[in-house]
Amino acid sequence: MTSKITTISLLEMKKQGRKITMLTCYQYSFSKLLNECGVDVLLVGDSLGMVVLGHENTLPVTIEDMLHHTKAVKRGNSKSLLVSDMPYLSYEIDPSDAVRYAGKLIKEGGAEAVKLEGGLEMAPTIRKMLQANIPIMGHLGLTPQAIHRLGGYKVQGKKQEDADRILKDALALEEAGIFSLVLECVPSALAKQISQKLSIPTIGIGAGPHCDGQVLVLDDMLGLFPSPKTPKFVKQYAHLYETSRQAIEEYCQEVREEEFPSSEHEYE
Ligand code: KIV
Repeated sequence: MTSKITTISLLEMKKQGRKITMLTCYQYSFSKLLNECGVDVLLVGDSLGMVVLGHENTLPVTIEDMLHHTKAVKRGNSKSLLVSDMPYLSYEIDPSDAVRYAGKLIKEGGAEAVKLEGGLEMAPTIRKMLQANIPIMGHLGLTPQAIHRLGGYKVQGKKQEDADRILKDALALEEAGIFSLVLECVPSALAKQISQKLSIPTIGIGAGPHCDGQVLVLDDMLGLFPSPKTPKFVKQYAHLYETSRQAIEEYCQEVREEEFPSSEHEYE
């Protein structure tokens, strides 16, 4: 990646058949690293509620939490497209709230676009946000903010009627003006059908290989948690939990046995 990625670049990538890479990012140091690696999109996901803040799900995340982490990621970002999640209840009640809070993430946080969950029912809000020049990424399938209604973290769109509804929602969101759509935990065949029908790019997570791009939670793919916690669709490209554990245990042992600091680490 050489030039700055924008929402327009993603549309171009779809047209050219180039896959889009997206990872979540919550802090300055990883923002710099992800830029260096040429990741196209950095998502300050509300998954930070679980990954960084230790909540049980994404529901307690506030606009202040999102703003705090968006600012940190912004400081390390130079080339990737920076997208920030709209937290639960910051956009569902009133379209004016949606404009105000998304505007905050852009104006104060430095986000270049926002992501929100939901289908057809979000179209009027999306239109209102676009009037304020706020680019929007949609999110369908397993929408974690609807976890209590969905009854758990389950694959969505397995039944034909559910698949039809998700497709209808995708078309309505495109019509409303989103620039890209995350499809989470849906059958590959449905993700393929949606990706073919839409002219905007789809980004899959647990949605198979046919989407125009892929996203994973950074901490999951780096193996920053003990293995049994990661879902089936996650591929662990590293095992940093184990590596970190070994390093921390070695540090503690060396301090206790007075091996660290040694002469090379002290000032004359
Ligand atoms: O919050 C998040 O990390 C997300 C991704 C899983 C797409 O929404």
